[in-house]
Parts: sequence; structure tokens; C-alpha cells
Amino acid sequence: MGVVGAGFVGERHIDAIRRIGLAELTAIVDSDYSLALTRSAEHRVPKCGVALDEILDDVDVIHNCTPNNMHMAINVSAIRAGKHVFSEKPLALDTKESQAMLDCLRRNPKIVHGVNFNYRMNSMVREMKQKVAAGEIGDVMLVHGAYLQDWLMFDTDYNWRLEPSVGGPMRAIADIGSHWIDAVQTVVGSRVTEVCADLATLIPIRKKRLGHRGATFSKGCGEEFQLHRISTEDYGAVLFRMANGAKGVFYVSQVSAGRKNDLFFQIDGTKSSLYWSQERPDEIRIGNRDSASLLMMRAPDQLSAEAAHYTRLPAGHPEGWNDTLLNSIREFYKFVVDGKTVGVDRCDFATFEDGHQVMQVAEAILRSSTVRGWVRVGDEAGRLVQRVPLLRMDEAAPTWAQQLWKHETGLTRYMTTAVRFEEVFAE
Ligand SMILES: NC(=O)c1ccc[n+]([C@@H]2O[C@H](COP(=O)([O-])OP(=O)(O)OC[C@H]3O[C@@H](n4cnc5c(N)ncnc54)[C@H](O)[C@@H]3O)[C@@H](O)[C@H]2O)c1
Repeated sequence: MGVVGAGFVGERHIDAIRRIGLAELTAIVDSDYSLALTRSAEHRVPKCGVALDEILDDVDVIHNCTPNNMHMAINVSAIRAGKHVFSEKPLALDTKESQAMLDCLRRNPKIVHGVNFNYRMNSMVREMKQKVAAGEIGDVMLVHGAYLQDWLMFDTDYNWRLEPSVGGPMRAIADIGSHWIDAVQTVVGSRVTEVCADLATLIPIRKKRLGHRGATFSKGCGEEFQLHRISTEDYGAVLFRMANGAKGVFYVSQVSAGRKNDLFFQIDGTKSSLYWSQERPDEIRIGNRDSASLLMMRAPDQLSAEAAHYTRLPAGHPEGWNDTLLNSIREFYKFVVDGKTVGVDRCDFATFEDGHQVMQVAEAILRSSTVRGWVRVGDEAGRLVQRVPLLRMDEAAPTWAQQLWKHETGLTRYMTTAVRFEEVFAE
């Protein structure tokens, strides 16, 4: 197999592949040749290159660890060449791209496809899923939580994720919100069907170090920088409804000081609640009303069979983020090695179908924030279901805003209400 994109997460894939031992790593590709060379030397990988084409003949499986704008081109090329694909998330820049990948897979049904929504593969998350499915917490009423980071909180922080042509039209929602949505949908066993969102760009202008590509988690812009106007969200808050009737709310931020990779969620059932935080991944808090609430620590012999399958270490030996990635990749390879077919055989790892559905939720969130109303997921790419008329739109608004308003609402005339347009669009 070969890894394409040898940056932050690419190296974690390399590590996981080596740890599971089900596949032989034969090639590393990165458009930055010196990085490809360094990584292949470090990891004793025989071949390296700068483009997918250079390694296609040497591999059966491709791991796509490139920035978001390269996901579609590389995934589709690999599928067409008959290679199985394990892609990073978000699956695409938008649903047009993710749908194109599904269309391509329909013509190549034997290809195994996975998306690295790794949090769903933590053993305690699997335990929560099992508890919900077994009815232990009663009917799910509410789902809530957040995903918070701080690595983009200064205007001197810069990364390709901030550029829509590379990261996509959404940032915090697509980058980290997508993980939250996938994890919660997996645990609840139901999908988000409608959303009402408010997204905000809190740092509208950032400084990009000259000649720097903006590596993940890099800090400081140095003495020589260029100013960049930012259009994607640093923060997003989302109300949602699920197919099973549960209601929920979550928020994401990449500017919350002290929160490094703080994904957490709680499921409130009619009998009890379950809470998990990825920064304390070995614990589930079980909330009770009339008896003591409990902290359940991971211990392989005390987990359900479903969860025990995803744990390797004895109790007291923490398993975390790296192990979730390992679990995703191990399940993917077992699936490939066993000759199984996506859509026919059960698989716990996220597939491109799941990746597409999460893109649909993300896209509905973006539309909802733009039109300020509830939007249905996946229905004609997010048709407005209920408008909350909060902003005044008039001829003085920029042309793009007028066009967007007409496109999204289907209205040719504008609403006029309390909030002044100038305030809303001041940025
Ligand atoms: N699952 C997770 O928890 C997780 C964590 C981090 C990143 N990611 C995802 O992984 C992807 C990469 O993120 P990252 O943080 O590793 O970024 P990164 O910038 O650290 O690494 C990306 C690498 O891809 C290379 N690259 C760019 N275009 C290429 C091309 N056309 N062909 C080959 N190589 C190319 C770059 O030179 C760079 O080395 C993103 O889609 C991101 O959302 C997922």
C-alpha cells in the first residue's frame, strides 16, 4: 500500500499500518519531494514520489492524507485504477464532489472504501453505542456537546484549512464538526435530519508567513507575512433534529484558549445519560437521577463484546487518539483481506457513504447559517424548511448577498425586520 500526503496525519497512518502488520507499506508520495524523501528514509519505505501516478503500479491500497481539495481527484484516480482507498476526512470540499466519488464507486463495486472518522472506533465510544442500542439509557431524548481547539486563535496562526480553495467553503464545521457528527450519529444509531446554525468568522484577517505552506499546528507568522482575508468560520453553533426524534445542539471552535482537541458529547436518555470526552478517552460517565452517578473505566473484561473488540491494552494502560486511528485502519484491512464488500458485509469503519452523508449535514449547516433558518439535510442539497427572518436585505446589500438570498430562499423580494443588514454583514 501507499500513503499519499506525508504531513501530520499521513505519518500517523504510516505508524498505524506498521503497527497492524496486515499490509506492506511500499510507497510514500508527497507533493513536497523533500518531505517524501525524508519520510521514506525514516520509515525505510522503498519508494517515494511526488504524484499518485508514480506509485499506482506498486500498490493495492491508497491512503489519501492530502489536504481536502485533493481528496476527490486522488480518490477517484485510485478507484478507477482498481485500488482500495482509505481517505481522510472531510471526504470532499462539498456534496457534489462526494456524490461524484459515490458514482465512481457504483461503477467499481469491489473497491473497499473507508473514511478516517476515527473517534467512532474508540472502544468506550463503541461501549456507549452498545448501551444505547441495548436500551440501557432508555429512549434518547437529547444529544449535546462540542469540539474545541485553540491552535487557530491568534491572527498569526495560519494553515491551508483557512483557504477555501484548499480547505473548502467550511472550516471548523467540516474539519472538526464532521468528526463530532459522525461520532454522535454512530453512538445514537440515528442520523441528523435538520439543522439550524450560526457560524462566525471571529478573526477576519490573518497573517501568513511568506513562503510558508502553513503546516498543521504551526505557530507564528515571523517578520515577513502577507495579510489574508478569511471567509470561513472559526466558530459554529448548531441546533439539530435526528431521525429518531432526538434533539440536539453542538458547537465547534478553533479559537478557545486551552482547549487542544476537546471533543465531548453527552447522550441524555429517559433512564440515564452517557458522557465521553476524547481527552479522557478511557472513561464514560454514566449519569443517574436517583442513584449515584458512575465513572466507568475501560477494562477489557468488563466491556461488551462489541467494545472489547476494539481494545488491546489492559486496564490502566491508556488508549487514545492514536489507537482509534489504528482501529479504523485495522478494520479496513481486515475487510480487504477477507474479500468483503461494502454495502453487503457489516463494517464498523466509516465508508464513503458515511462521508457523503456527513458532507450533506455540513452543507446544510452552512446554508442554514447563510439563510438563518432550519434546513433539511440532503434534501435537494439543503432546502430551507423554516426561515427565521432576522436580517434586513435590501438593494444596498452586496450583489453576492442578494443573489445568495434569492437562491437560498427562492424569494425575489426581501424580508425587512429588526436586525440591520449593515450590522450582520459588517465584516
Ligand atoms: N482523522 C483525523 O483525526 C485527522 C487529523 C488531522 C488531519 N486530518 C485530515 O487529513 C488531511 C491532511 O491533514 P494534515 O493535517 O495531515 O495536513 P498537512 O498539511 O500536515 O499534510 C498534508 C500533506 O499533503 C501534501 N500534499 C498536498 N497536496 C498533495 C498532492 N497533490 N499530492 C501529494 N501530497 C500532497 C502536503 O505537502 C503535506 O505534506 C486533511 O484532509 C485533514 O482534514 C484528519
